[in-house]
Amino acid sequence: MNEVGKVMIKNFEGVYEPAEDSWLMAEHLPIFNGSVLEIGCGSGIISIHLAKRGNQVTAVDINPKAIKATEFNSKKNNVKIEIIEGDMFSKLKNCKFDTIVCNPPYLPPTDEYDDSDLALAVEGGPSGTEFTLKLLSEAPNYLNSAGSLYMILSSRMKKFKTKWSQEIIRQEKYFFERLNLVRFFTR
Ligand SMILES: C[S@@+](CC[C@H](N)C(=O)[O-])C[C@H]1O[C@@H](n2cnc3c(N)ncnc32)[C@H](O)[C@@H]1O
Repeated sequence: MNEVGKVMIKNFEGVYEPAEDSWLMAEHLPIFNGSVLEIGCGSGIISIHLAKRGNQVTAVDINPKAIKATEFNSKKNNVKIEIIEGDMFSKLKNCKFDTIVCNPPYLPPTDEYDDSDLALAVEGGPSGTEFTLKLLSEAPNYLNSAGSLYMILSSRMKKFKTKWSQEIIRQEKYFFERLNLVRFFTR
């Protein structure tokens, strides 16, 4: 078990173990009210932080092991989260949320991971940005008006253009990369 803030997280094989990007998001997301959707919940660390703050949280992951991990960790931390196995928004037809958060897979294909579940957690498509671009293009259909989307972006990602307005909420520098917690909004 790892203790991050007041959240206890058990790590599961085949599930992304919370790292600098997870802590950056969990600890520095601003306070907001209402419903939140997390895409790619992994161990559940970010969703559990949000549920502890009083948000109504829905957590989605494509990896069934991540679903089991989030179910286990949310129970351990005494929070109720709606947990859904699915590919991005595929199980959320006609659902709207006040906020969406995502710490996405953002690397181009790498041979660092033997485990295909872990590769899925870090590789965001042929250039690394495909997952992020798909999320940015589909998210408006699932956001209430004036809702925001918070994502982690890395200096290791290829630069991309988007119609969303952006503001950096927090930046952390490491010797191998810069991580930004970014708010995307339309107004
Ligand atoms: C970088 S990990 C983040 C995990 C956790 N939120 C954290 O910050 O520690 C990305 C997560 O996205 C999930 N994922 C990858 N592709 C997905 C997809 N198409 N739909 C839903 N989840 C996906 C992975 O299984 C992984 O758990």
